[in-house]
Amino acid sequence: MNKHNIPTARSRTFTADNLEEGLNYVSSHPTPVVLKADGLAAGKGVIISETNEHARETLKEMLVDAKFGDASSRVVVEQFLEGIELSVFVLTDGENYKILPEAKDYKRIGEQDTGLNTGGMGAVSPVPFADADFLGKVEDRVIKPTINGLKAEGIDYKGFIFIGLMNMGGDPYVIEYNVRMGDPETQVVMPRIQSDVLELFIATGNGTLDQVDYELDEQAATTVVMVAGGYPGSYAKGATISGIDSVDEAMVFHAGTKNSEEGTVVTNGGRILAITGKGDSVAKALENSYNGIGKISWQDEYHRKDIGQDILRLLD
Ligand code: GLY
Repeated sequence: MNKHNIPTARSRTFTADNLEEGLNYVSSHPTPVVLKADGLAAGKGVIISETNEHARETLKEMLVDAKFGDASSRVVVEQFLEGIELSVFVLTDGENYKILPEAKDYKRIGEQDTGLNTGGMGAVSPVPFADADFLGKVEDRVIKPTINGLKAEGIDYKGFIFIGLMNMGGDPYVIEYNVRMGDPETQVVMPRIQSDVLELFIATGNGTLDQVDYELDEQAATTVVMVAGGYPGSYAKGATISGIDSVDEAMVFHAGTKNSEEGTVVTNGGRILAITGKGDSVAKALENSYNGIGKISWQDEYHRKDIGQDILRLLD
């Protein structure tokens, strides 16, 4: 991102070889300080230090005491980005691109974004602060330099780019890229695409995305994920799910389900179903999602009841 001038958190990387330099760097770094293990650490390798002293101790623990094993043999020290997070999705054939609807997801298990991280508890699209002005900045400052950067690096990439962004004071900063769609963002992004997605995918493969019409549905979409009680910790499987067939105001996406030998649908994972509602407003879409949920049940079912409430407050 630095090479291609794409806005992101300022960062420097340290190893045990330049530990002293790293300790000096975090000692005068504005707080909070973000320390990230550079390797894979099962989603746990990020520590946010509120004080410089804590950042020094943490950096030592990561680099010298191998707090996250090999994963923390390199540590990225990063600026803390404060703002509201959202995800923007792009489909590219390597030359041309279409910007898909943006979405905001809800990662924590508990209401008011508390508790452990999950695979996603809900999502909303559109996101009200992602207006034409903000999305224009995203296109000019992030999407175009990303596509041009891939080309400049000799990477012939065709497919989805998932751009995780922070809106900091009206300016977009990239937090992460993924080369896939998001879950549960897909369950609100795809229902808002009015054009035939198969045509879009074929054009992506053929390098002709610029020749395909692409229309969005102006309606809002929201999804709420129903999970097994206990998730993301341990949970039971095999509970009989009832009521799916009576949901007519929302779409029901299956994830952790299977057919039992008796022909019923039973739970078979942590995240079980995602219930997507659509409507002329986020409030109406949420009403449809939650009305659908009200018809479905199994023993120890859990879902968050506050999906989209922050968006509704922003719209007030
Ligand atoms: N919802 C976040 C992700 O798919 O990575």
